[in-house]
Amino acid sequence: MCGIVGYIGTQAATEVLLSGLEKLEYRGYDSAGIATIWEDEINCVRAKGKLYNLRSKLQQVETPAQIGIGHTRWATHGKPEEYNAHPHMDTARRVAVVQNGIVENYRELREQLKAQGCEFRSDTDTEVIPHLIAEFLKNPISPSPFLHAVQKAVHKLKGAFALVVISADYPDELIVVRQQAPLVIGFGQGEFFCASDTPAIVSHTRAVLPLENGEMARLTPLGVEVYNFVGERLKKYPQILNWNPIMVEKQGFKHFMLKEIYEQPGVVRACLDAYFNPDWTEANTTNSPVNLGLPEKLYTDLEQIQIVACGTSWHAALVGKYLLEQLAGIPTQVYYASEFRYAPPPITANTLTIGVTQSGETADTLAALAMEKERRHGKEEKYQTRLLGITNRPESTLGHTVSHIINTHAGMEIGVAATKTFIAQLMAFYALVLDIVSIRQTISQEKVQEMINGLRQIPREIEANLESQERYIEQLVHEFEETQDFIFLGRGINFPIALEGALKLKEISYIHAEGYPAGEMKHGPIALLDAKVPVVAIAMPGSVYEKVISNAHEAKARDSRLIGVTPVNNTEAGEIFDNIIPVSCVEEFLSPILAVIPLQLLAYHIAARRGLDVDQPRNLAKSVTVE
Ligand code: AGP
Repeated sequence: MCGIVGYIGTQAATEVLLSGLEKLEYRGYDSAGIATIWEDEINCVRAKGKLYNLRSKLQQVETPAQIGIGHTRWATHGKPEEYNAHPHMDTARRVAVVQNGIVENYRELREQLKAQGCEFRSDTDTEVIPHLIAEFLKNPISPSPFLHAVQKAVHKLKGAFALVVISADYPDELIVVRQQAPLVIGFGQGEFFCASDTPAIVSHTRAVLPLENGEMARLTPLGVEVYNFVGERLKKYPQILNWNPIMVEKQGFKHFMLKEIYEQPGVVRACLDAYFNPDWTEANTTNSPVNLGLPEKLYTDLEQIQIVACGTSWHAALVGKYLLEQLAGIPTQVYYASEFRYAPPPITANTLTIGVTQSGETADTLAALAMEKERRHGKEEKYQTRLLGITNRPESTLGHTVSHIINTHAGMEIGVAATKTFIAQLMAFYALVLDIVSIRQTISQEKVQEMINGLRQIPREIEANLESQERYIEQLVHEFEETQDFIFLGRGINFPIALEGALKLKEISYIHAEGYPAGEMKHGPIALLDAKVPVVAIAMPGSVYEKVISNAHEAKARDSRLIGVTPVNNTEAGEIFDNIIPVSCVEEFLSPILAVIPLQLLAYHIAARRGLDVDQPRNLAKSVTVE
């Protein structure tokens, strides 16, 4: 949450910062601001709302400054007003700070600093930081007074945060700090960058160094020095990203979300290539069909699996649970990470804990995993922690928190609504389950082969579906211009898809939507139905197909308009549904991948037709790095 950037080098800093913030706007867009140093002064320009407001303000203020910091805000403390926008400065306006995170003890610090004569101009937690640094700079410590002052200030702060700091008195230094919020440094030629996320710097350099918790760095035109919080210099080397800047452009699509929906066949192919052994056949079982690089000891005597996640990742985890229980026979619990961390279940033996997070930075998921590690620490062997992460960003904080990772290979996702990363998380669960069943032999090799063959067909099926579905949905959404509520129904493995369809619609179109297990409707929610409430039923062939059709009949009897996500060549479906969004017929276990895509398209086209900001819906941020 919140995007921060910093630049020091030879280019005009303002444009570098603005283009970096554009790439980070998915992290928050309540306000934006930049501060640069020019002619011994800090020039700070801030604007409420989206980045274009800041851009237009900056057209009147031209400085050739070559050092600066920038911020795009998702409001936590203080309203989304200009006076609360970052950067924040000390009383004398000599120090400027941008922060991503929360300073938990800001109230007491604020009182102390006020008593010392500091003048506060915002309601934010962040503002205590420049004041603290300025206070420490009153007694400079050689040889690096600015670095030391920031370090001393950091020792006073409680919470999870990342900071970038400049001072007009040290115009050739940019100090960055990481304490449980992401921060990456980019190495150019005679210029250095820092940002909360790599898209902000990838158009300048692919040589990056993600800082770890408890690390800070001093960036000067001559280089980068990394230290820990007690001031010891650390040896750190940048890594080269295999990204290219095109990945973070819209490439002709109207929105990132639509582009990312269309990237899904490629994502499934990338996962197939990464996870499955091309030489494996059921006849030649000397090697494993799955190639996740996970040690067998992760699965030894496995009795239970618990999964923690939030939002869309939580829905992927529910599909995972279905697969793990029905195919691998392992009891699996899925928890909202935010609930798990304060009400964990009793510790069970031989338990694998999986954290699912596309960003790898979701505060609740990380805290739940850290808590699990902590409470199992020092326990006897069978209670020892086994932690696995499923993420699209192996370089993220999650990567440092867990011992094993399944990388989901979706490429950078910019749209705030998760689409291709969800599909990739499903692929990770298919691979994990097939890895486990191959070792435990809970299903036949023939069935394993059948599932892998089925997965290999999926990219082509998605391609075949996408075009016809989009054409159909574009027409269909005209009829929902006044609609205020939607119900999504699914059963079995497609119940989480009903939840995901409802979440996508809520997030980007602001229409109230609920997902239910179709059989539960008659226990209460059916009272909501009338002619104004469309019902989307996911009716994929398999064990619960007939049941879903019966539940759809119950909705029809209450005058609801019925939209079926179902294969088109089924007469029964043709008779009951008012509209059918056609989906290819695949084996039931694989059906969620195909069923979710038309729901993504439905949400997209409803929101786009209403003229809403699909990629940056109100109140949301792509990675939720605060509790
Ligand atoms: C998805 O469309 C949402 N924006 C949101 O629910 C998201 O899935 C959730 O915040 C979890 O994010 P993560 O996968 O990065 O942990």
